[in-house]
Amino acid sequence: MNSKYSIRIASKNDEKKVTSFIELVDKDFYPPLSQRSGGIPERVERCLDTDEANFLVVEPNVNRENSQSEGFIGMLGYTKNWKGQDTAYINFLATHPDYRNLGISKALYMQLEKKLAESGIKRIYLCTWSGNPAAIKFYESIGYYRYAVVLNDRGNGVNTIYYKKVLI
Ligand SMILES: CC(C)(COP(=O)(O)OP(=O)(O)OC[C@H]1O[C@@H](n2cnc3c(N)ncnc32)[C@H](O)[C@@H]1OP(=O)(O)O)[C@@H](O)C(=O)NCCC(=O)NCCS
Repeated sequence: MNSKYSIRIASKNDEKKVTSFIELVDKDFYPPLSQRSGGIPERVERCLDTDEANFLVVEPNVNRENSQSEGFIGMLGYTKNWKGQDTAYINFLATHPDYRNLGISKALYMQLEKKLAESGIKRIYLCTWSGNPAAIKFYESIGYYRYAVVLNDRGNGVNTIYYKKVLI
């Protein structure tokens, strides 16, 4: 574990911090998550600490007196049993803009994959959009392959790219 930050599973008590983090990175998504069906509140309700979905969150390791004010610096959302019992779907991934390119998403993802593999998950799905080279490079670097592309799915010539990884 990196000594500068810690990764843990979120709980219902994290609702405000989860919401604030999604709001912080909202405009990095295309279209923004706040403009998608149900917006951010419904996403949090659907994905935070339910039977099948939750977030892994990253917190900086700071002095105790400062820790109250610290929000998350990375978050990964996953849903189990997405296309059958042994599958999962990554429904959210972002790193705080001030902490990108430091390996946080990679650390988050490795923890998730281990946890899902241990619980019997055999395939993980996700999607991103053309015009997001950071995410495309990231997913391909950790073993995901494209299995479908929906052209102009997001308007303005922006395609949705579907990815899948089969766990060994
Ligand atoms: C995509 C994103 C989650 C990556 O998070 P991160 O913590 O900065 O990523 P990491 O530092 O763990 O990088 C891991 C690998 O991803 C790739 N990568 C990350 N950022 C990249 C960039 N800006 N350009 C190209 N490749 C990039 C690299 O392969 C990198 O490995 P390397 O450093 O050994 O070359 C981050 O840029 C982000 O939050 N973007 C906005 C939200 C978003 O697009 N989420 C994905 C939606 S599908």
